[in-house]
Amino acid sequence: MSKPLKILMVSAEAAPLAKVGGLGDAVYGLSKALAGLGHRVKVALPVYGNILKDARPLKQKAGSVPVEMGRHSMPVDFLETELEKGIKALLVRHDPLFDRQGIYADQFGLFGDNPLRFILFSKSIPALAKAFDFEPDVIIANDWHTGLVCARLNLGDLPKTASIFVIHNIGYTGIVLPENIEALGVPDFFLTSDLMEFYGSPSLLKAGIAFCDALVTVSPTHAREIQTPEYGAGLDGFVRHHQSKLSGILNGVDFSLWNPADDKLIAATYKPGKMAGKAICKKALVAQTGLAQAAQKAPLAGMVTRLVTQKGIDLLLERIESIMASGLHLVVLGSGLAHYEDALKGLVARFAGQLAFVKGYNETLARQIIAGADIFLMPSLYEPCGLTQMYALKYGTLPVARRTGGLADTIRDTAGTAGPDTGFLFDHYSAHAFAGAVDRAVETFGRPDSWNMMIKAAMTGADEFSWEKSALAYQKVIEQMRAAPGKG
Ligand code: ADP
Ligand code: GLC
Repeated sequence: MSKPLKILMVSAEAAPLAKVGGLGDAVYGLSKALAGLGHRVKVALPVYGNILKDARPLKQKAGSVPVEMGRHSMPVDFLETELEKGIKALLVRHDPLFDRQGIYADQFGLFGDNPLRFILFSKSIPALAKAFDFEPDVIIANDWHTGLVCARLNLGDLPKTASIFVIHNIGYTGIVLPENIEALGVPDFFLTSDLMEFYGSPSLLKAGIAFCDALVTVSPTHAREIQTPEYGAGLDGFVRHHQSKLSGILNGVDFSLWNPADDKLIAATYKPGKMAGKAICKKALVAQTGLAQAAQKAPLAGMVTRLVTQKGIDLLLERIESIMASGLHLVVLGSGLAHYEDALKGLVARFAGQLAFVKGYNETLARQIIAGADIFLMPSLYEPCGLTQMYALKYGTLPVARRTGGLADTIRDTAGTAGPDTGFLFDHYSAHAFAGAVDRAVETFGRPDSWNMMIKAAMTGADEFSWEKSALAYQKVIEQMRAAPGKG
């Protein structure tokens, strides 16, 4: 093992305290795995409303600290709690900005002051490190919310700390409003297009890319993709410019949480060679979501997703008629853009008994769908890594997905030319190509021998997605970064 390091993960989300999507799972999984390698890992998070209400003991550090935000300052308090046994969460509290129902949004939509909220969070980090006497060797900053941390390190905050910036989602660039520019506290030359400026405004994501010592995105394929105009969200040239510090490291699965052999939240447990429980899970799912009895024998697909353009919801909606005509039954769980929610609600009435839609965020139902379905749909426009397809593979639920990002790196579809495949991939982002892959899945479902062979390959193959493997790759990046002049 390399020398134990002090590592501070800085993130807007970390499960189980704060999770909207995969970012929360990824920060949690990586923190635990790095701690497992012997490092001292702590996780910095804002104190959202739900964390305050949670029964966990919260220990407060004495005294507020003023954080300079342009001409004003904002007082923050620091609290400590446990994210997981042995991993401390160090919390930044400023109730006017963080004590709200949601993390980024409430029922009325995205919070308009999100950039300001995460500028404050990022600028609190050096004071937080001092308050807890935890000056990290490495900060791992995640997504646009924390890009400013990397910029501030270049201004002399925490001089011994090197930074890794992880891009989980390049589609969110963290544009700073004109009235918040002063609060950034960076010199004017940072606000040029060589560094932070993106189409006329500062971008916090660009700050992370520009100023980090090492740049990571969450799969090898996506590391190549973000250097292309198709996937670079306007930043492909900038990423190419910083290519020498970029690597792609696949996320992992926390098998202590995601394992059909001992999952307490599903109707029955199962594992390769002992699959009777999966049929019980399917039966329970059909009953619970009000699908017709026929769904029990039919191929049953599931989706658990944020309802946003990234996830390819448009492809599903465009081809829903022919997909339903193929005999597929479908359960969708998700929330997000109102027009997708409305469209799905409307379709439930049309395809009663064959299509179920549950609006909302529900971790128990998410597992029950992943366990009970036969097929898992992920027709993503882009997918930096994707965790749900890895969960689905582990639960023997075969993905139909687009060959992009982490989906391409985790699902094997060789059209049967190289051993058993684990899913059904399509290339072109079109409803036609998606429907073609669904048809292949439905056709294969009708051949139980082939289907069962694929399930076995998926379930056993999924064991390779361990967080330990990812943590070792991050450790290697840290070693290389610290070996570079001036970073040790
Ligand atoms: P992304 O981070 O882009 O949303 P991922 O596949 O990486 O996609 O991770 C999504 C995570 O969020 C998974 O743990 C998934 O189970 C969870 N999730 C997404 N939508 C819901 C929902 N409506 N209810 C419960 N869990 C959800
Ligand atoms: C983002 C991406 C998703 C990835 C997750 C965790 O939300 O959309 O693909 O799995 O982050 O890294």
